Amino acid sequence: MKAKIQEKFESLFGEEGILYASAGRINLIGEHTDYNGGYVFPGAINFGIMTAIKPNGTDKVKVYSLDFDQVSEFGLKEEDKPKEAWACYVFGVCRETIKRGGKVEGFNAVFAGDVPLGAGLSSSAALESTFAFAINDLFNDNKIEKFELAKIGQSTEHNYCGVKCGIMDQFASIFGKEGSLIRLNCKTGEYKYFPFHPKGYKLVLIDSCVKHELASSAYNKRRESCERAAAAIRKNHPEVEFLSDAKRLWLDEVRSEITEEDFLRAEYVIGEVQRVLDVCDALERDDYETVGEMMYQTHFGLSRLYEVSCEELDFLNKLARKMDVSGSRVMGGGFGGCTINLVKEELYDNFIKAAVEKFTQKFGHAPKVYDVVISDGARKL
Ligand code: GLA
Repeated sequence: MKAKIQEKFESLFGEEGILYASAGRINLIGEHTDYNGGYVFPGAINFGIMTAIKPNGTDKVKVYSLDFDQVSEFGLKEEDKPKEAWACYVFGVCRETIKRGGKVEGFNAVFAGDVPLGAGLSSSAALESTFAFAINDLFNDNKIEKFELAKIGQSTEHNYCGVKCGIMDQFASIFGKEGSLIRLNCKTGEYKYFPFHPKGYKLVLIDSCVKHELASSAYNKRRESCERAAAAIRKNHPEVEFLSDAKRLWLDEVRSEITEEDFLRAEYVIGEVQRVLDVCDALERDDYETVGEMMYQTHFGLSRLYEVSCEELDFLNKLARKMDVSGSRVMGGGFGGCTINLVKEELYDNFIKAAVEKFTQKFGHAPKVYDVVISDGARKL
């Protein structure tokens, strides 16, 4: 990828660019908890975005996507938003940096990536983090704090891409470290690295290759449900800033005041916040069977209470259970994408073979299988 990017950069701009990269992410557990002030437990992976970039001495950005074979040119003012959807991520990062008092000047860039799109692996966060990191290095002497870089990516999603996401994806792709998952408290910003080398197990993703069109609006609706539930609970318990602060009992108190749908969404979130902590305890004992069991519980919640799964993902989850896979669940925002599976090494080959065969038989297309490695996040190469 590196050689191709540099080659294109040289052919377009007649010189070499400076290389930066960042990564997509997995999340072991803690789904839809980030915007509720709860815990998440992600790690950066060996699929990412790479860019060659160089200041061009103007006030214009010229960026070329190798994967889309498209170029986009834009200025750095609010009214200069480009028309290409992919370029809005780069534009958003520039704007959000400027809004925070950071410096951004014109630059040329060529980028490419290998994060599968729509698989729930946060290709967009990888893109945002790559550019946020590069802009910080090139124009700001790395003075912008890493957490702020993640927020620049998150605000880009909110203000330029229409997704009211939490901080998890951008955090993971900025802070990711080889071999470690990171538990983040999304309310306080405290985080802790957990070395993750499950002996005797493999972590594998199975991509349903299903992508639902309305995923962003459905995502935003889930967030609104949670906010309504939190507001109802807050009337009785003013200390509840986020839904993650609420006790299950407090949710029951307001059951008649909120819709059944909002109740179910909140029920899932409150359970999930606790599951992350239980998983961390289990990891400290190397108890991967408990970790896996929690993953199944999360899947149940995401499917039945939060309703972000789909037929294809439920099928993969059920099959995993049937084949004694230790843990399996839909990962990321949902509405398509991947399941993440914790599989004993001796079961791995049979499970993958059966999953591919049976899924293809039922849905008429093959799923994709990704063996992920927990890797470094944003960096200069
Ligand atoms: C998407 C969002 C994240 C998070 C997950 C669900 O990936 O970008 O902020 O909410 O969904 O856990």
